[in-house]
Amino acid sequence: MPTVLITGAGRGLGLEFVRQYAADGWTVIATARSPDRATELGTLAQAAGGRVKVHALDVADHAAIEALAARLAGVPIDLLINNSGTMGKESFAGQGMKAQRFGTSDYDEWAYQFRVNALGPMKMAEAFVEHVAASSQRKIVALSTVMASIGGNNLGGLYGYRSSKAALNAILKSMALDLARRAIIVAPLHPGWAATEMGGANAPVRPQHSVAGLRQVIAGLTKEKSGRFWQWDGKELPW
Ligand SMILES: NC(=O)c1ccc[n+]([C@@H]2O[C@H](COP(=O)([O-])OP(=O)(O)OC[C@H]3O[C@@H](n4cnc5c(N)ncnc54)[C@H](OP(=O)(O)O)[C@@H]3O)[C@@H](O)[C@H]2O)c1
Repeated sequence: MPTVLITGAGRGLGLEFVRQYAADGWTVIATARSPDRATELGTLAQAAGGRVKVHALDVADHAAIEALAARLAGVPIDLLINNSGTMGKESFAGQGMKAQRFGTSDYDEWAYQFRVNALGPMKMAEAFVEHVAASSQRKIVALSTVMASIGGNNLGGLYGYRSSKAALNAILKSMALDLARRAIIVAPLHPGWAATEMGGANAPVRPQHSVAGLRQVIAGLTKEKSGRFWQWDGKELPW
């Protein structure tokens, strides 16, 4: 069975990815910043009897990413899911569209969002490219957001989150072009407005449905669909 590596797997969509891929028989390498606090993930790993392995990983820590890649040297990874993401202190779930407004920028927070949302997936891809290249499916995806779409932005605000995820999209576009020669498929994915800590309880899409849809989109990714921006229900989004 194929192997998937998922970042930010302790809660939210990451945890749901673990649940669904494990139920499907995949080998799952699940990373979380604090596995000790990720009790649901621990329970899932125990129930999976060795098919779900948990590793501590903060994607802002490049040395830790390199160390994990070295530890997993020689392990083919069919699918790398860069799921970890942050809105920083001012989140959509907390402040709605009033978060991260013009005139209130916290530049340290903004830089941290870049480090997690844009540079984290880049570093993960650079560290794990050989693992992915050695697999059968050869896919790298990242959880982006419709808020990264410049063409689709008609509400303003959310400067740190939008710009860090737009940077992520630009990074994945280049990566798709660069890694095509190694037959690696790369795509940013929008999960919908999903009811997690980030999305808030009023979000219309259940994490189970979002992840089920995303898994279908990922399964259907081909070299023609690489370097394009996909939504959880299969719709293509404008950059
Ligand atoms: N929910 C939505 O409506 C929505 C919409 C569009 C895009 N997205 C994207 O989908 C992805 C998953 O979001 P979610 O809704 O599941 O959010 P969430 O419930 O807030 O979960 C975020 C996940 O990212 C992890 N994370 C944050 N900073 C990290 C770091 N420095 N290193 C490693 N992991 C880190 C968190 O780990 P800890 O538990 O350690 O904090 C957590 O597992 C994110 O990239 C998000 O931007 C979500």
